[in-house]
Amino acid sequence: MKPAKQIKQCSHKRDAILKVLLENFGHFVPGEILTRASNLSRSGVWKYITSLRSQGFSIGASIKRGYCLREIPDKLLPPLIQTGLQTSVVAREIHYFSTIDSTNRVAKEYALSGVSDGTVVIAEEQTSGKGRMNRVWVSPPSSNILCSLIFYTSMNTSSVFRLTMLASIAVVRAINNACGIVAQIKWPNDVYINGKKVCGILTEFLADHDSTSYVVIGIGINVNFDIARHPEIKGIATCLKEAKGQKVSRLRVLKTLLEEIDTLYQNFVQTGGKDLRKQWERHSMVLNRQATIISGDEVTRGFVKGINEDGHLILIDPQGNTKEVLCGDLSLKF
Ligand code: BTN
Repeated sequence: MKPAKQIKQCSHKRDAILKVLLENFGHFVPGEILTRASNLSRSGVWKYITSLRSQGFSIGASIKRGYCLREIPDKLLPPLIQTGLQTSVVAREIHYFSTIDSTNRVAKEYALSGVSDGTVVIAEEQTSGKGRMNRVWVSPPSSNILCSLIFYTSMNTSSVFRLTMLASIAVVRAINNACGIVAQIKWPNDVYINGKKVCGILTEFLADHDSTSYVVIGIGINVNFDIARHPEIKGIATCLKEAKGQKVSRLRVLKTLLEEIDTLYQNFVQTGGKDLRKQWERHSMVLNRQATIISGDEVTRGFVKGINEDGHLILIDPQGNTKEVLCGDLSLKF
């Protein structure tokens, strides 16, 4: 499927205009300040203002007083994400879609075409959002966070799960820092609040022999999702709005998430992510609990002792034997 609408945003010149307007929200900024900040001509600034308006920004204009930003759309637009974003690798390049089939699918295409490390693909809506094990990921338009990150990391395929661990730790930290809500990780890759799923992560990669060429991490976070309208997930899913008791800024959560991923990724590049295990266990909702894991036809029960460096679950079975489980669906019913 071809992208319906795409906005690629890497221009620092244009960012400078939005940054100044955001800093002076509700107040007029003289045109010459914007031309100086952006190094664009007056007509260049005007063109950019027109493009912002077409994306839903309300901007007043006066010949004498300049421009005044009055309203920001509830959209995860690249300039809104990149303005003030404290990252060095992640989201320096963003590809935005109002509607797309799946951000993971598009991210895999971009990965092959050679974008920059840490590129983010983001969508307001997915028509074929993918979950693990070919499940469907449901998300109404402009309610939640749907994004995929591309990393050109070369690692043994048996260690790819470390990046999923990295993402789940970042999600927990972002939810806590942006909303003050405590979330926990349920093995292998889900984030839960009060016993209900708030986020799912789908990691896909391309490998040459046993070594990865790229890894795509797809993250879906339920933010302002009216779950009551979706009986198929009612009772098992939650959203940040429900946990907080009020509407949550998707932009704030996303920016915090990208910053957390950036911090963890820089450490990952240096260390290979061997120490992620400890942080993952700190946020785990399954550690030291009895669990049942279903993987295809195989059912494994036991006491969760922890995970290893590659995220395999370490269990003590009822006979006292230590077992390692690579993947599956975990239930805390025993
Ligand atoms: C799961 O819990 O099964 C994983 C869900 C992953 C959903 C996200 S939404 C953004 C990205 N694009 C997709 O098609 N899937 C992931």
